[in-house]
Amino acid sequence: MTSTQDASPHVPAAGSLAAAPGPEWWRTAVIYQIYPRSFADSNGDGLGDLPGITSRLGALAELGVDAIWLSPFMVSPQNDAGYDVADYCDVDPIFGTLGDFDAMLATAHGLGIRVIVDLVPNHSSDQHRWFQEALAAAPGSPERARYIFRDGRGEHGELPPNNWESVFGGPQWDRVSEPDSTPGQWYLHIFDSSQPDFDWTSPEVREEFRRILRFWLDRGVDGFRVDVAHGLIKKEGLPDYTPPADGDSMGGDDDDVPYWGQPGVHEIYRDWHEVLAAYDGDRALCAEAWLPTPDKTALWVRPDEMHQAFNFPYAMTDWEAPALREVITESLRAFPAVGAPATWVLSNHDVIRHASRLALTGESPQGEGIGPLSPTQPIPGLGLRRARAASTVMLALPGSAYLYQGEELGLPEVVDIPDAARQDPTWFRTNHEKYGRDGCRVPIPWEAAAPAYGFNETGASWLPQPAEWAEHARDVEARDPRSTLSLYRRLLSERRAHGLGAAPFAWLEGYSDDVLAFRVGDVTVIANAGSAPVELPAGGILISSEPFEGRMLPTDTAVWLARD
Ligand code: GLC
Repeated sequence: MTSTQDASPHVPAAGSLAAAPGPEWWRTAVIYQIYPRSFADSNGDGLGDLPGITSRLGALAELGVDAIWLSPFMVSPQNDAGYDVADYCDVDPIFGTLGDFDAMLATAHGLGIRVIVDLVPNHSSDQHRWFQEALAAAPGSPERARYIFRDGRGEHGELPPNNWESVFGGPQWDRVSEPDSTPGQWYLHIFDSSQPDFDWTSPEVREEFRRILRFWLDRGVDGFRVDVAHGLIKKEGLPDYTPPADGDSMGGDDDDVPYWGQPGVHEIYRDWHEVLAAYDGDRALCAEAWLPTPDKTALWVRPDEMHQAFNFPYAMTDWEAPALREVITESLRAFPAVGAPATWVLSNHDVIRHASRLALTGESPQGEGIGPLSPTQPIPGLGLRRARAASTVMLALPGSAYLYQGEELGLPEVVDIPDAARQDPTWFRTNHEKYGRDGCRVPIPWEAAAPAYGFNETGASWLPQPAEWAEHARDVEARDPRSTLSLYRRLLSERRAHGLGAAPFAWLEGYSDDVLAFRVGDVTVIANAGSAPVELPAGGILISSEPFEGRMLPTDTAVWLARD
């Protein structure tokens, strides 16, 4: 059986899609996300750190990435794993020192790897000096004006100013005690109560973030991943808003959420664009903006704004060829239409790892995480097979791609973390109803036989590592030509050799709906997301996501073919 159709097969569809060419490195880069807590731990305390990262950068050079993005390592009480920043211009002692950062940066640059750091401008930690000053100051004071303080509703101000729900569960408002101990105003926090939102209408806040950008640019970073880049401006008057029952809490699917994607955010990024443009070396801004379509996401990367935006519509697409075809086509139209590269991403520290997500037994009502009692569970084996195929497709696509640490080892989501070990604020703020994101954050394995699989020398680990992870350890996979690591290495080296990041792209016609077939530069990519084998067109197999014999491409498999 073949699902290839007979009529004029394998010809490119009319009109190839552009790749937004340009010389800047970020247009085509493969960027590897390091989650510092879970990458490598030099001092054995169970939490990864900057010297640990430095010691392992060689492995990333071998993998062939162009850049790394580091999730936050700045001073933080770690209520949201560092996304609650108390001092934007210093390193938290659990991760090291500014000197360790400089050493890491120099080592990365020496290896030809660029470095992007995470910037969290929507909110600070409640331990930030400014928030502490706001608490000590009176309502209406300049100190309070840096955050969003409001009087409560109700006779005595006992009700929150509006009905907004936090992304992590519960209300977006908490009430403070005024300095004289009377119950007082409320402050807004889209996330945890320890993450008060800045008021971005404040000129002081704007000036402070210009200073923070320059602080890191002066140290030599190549850019920033901007956290919650669609949340900084809230709708005038803070009107009530009730999200759709099955809505995406980060705003992925509703058009007019008063705290997501408000038009006023764009002038902030135009301003930052200017700050970066004053530096040499093509420094870049990448938006974490959860928006429903590539068209909407492209608004963040117009020529005078950011340079890249995560393509979450792509990341959230299931392993289904028609849906993938649509989102890829839309992306290769929408981003280049504003002069930006398309970006591609399948996993990060907020979503279920794609080696599990692509083969769940059903939708996950738990939102961003799964645990032992979730009604939906990953189908063992199938997820990894699909993930390898999906990554083989993704790394052929023109534009820039993001990898999340451990996906190159084929790591699955860790489902059975004991309740007592869970740390994501989502778990606590939903009274254990949502498991949250710990399952994708477990420290990664380096050496099968070492303590904590080589994460450190003591065996300590802030989240427990599963017993089966020895088989995913980098040293084991490096020796195995069929491993996921070997697959990723080949994908990255052929991607570079064939210049796919900047190559023209065209769909091939003549395949069934279940098949993704396209030509990018001089490479043909065929991916079978259906249930029947697919006959391959001419061309030698450069890379295959799974081994197979002959010319019939098995299900859940993708190949790169050399042009015949
Ligand atoms: C972003 C981060 C996420 C964090 C949230 C609040 O979505 O990726 O990890 O919890 O912002 O800062």
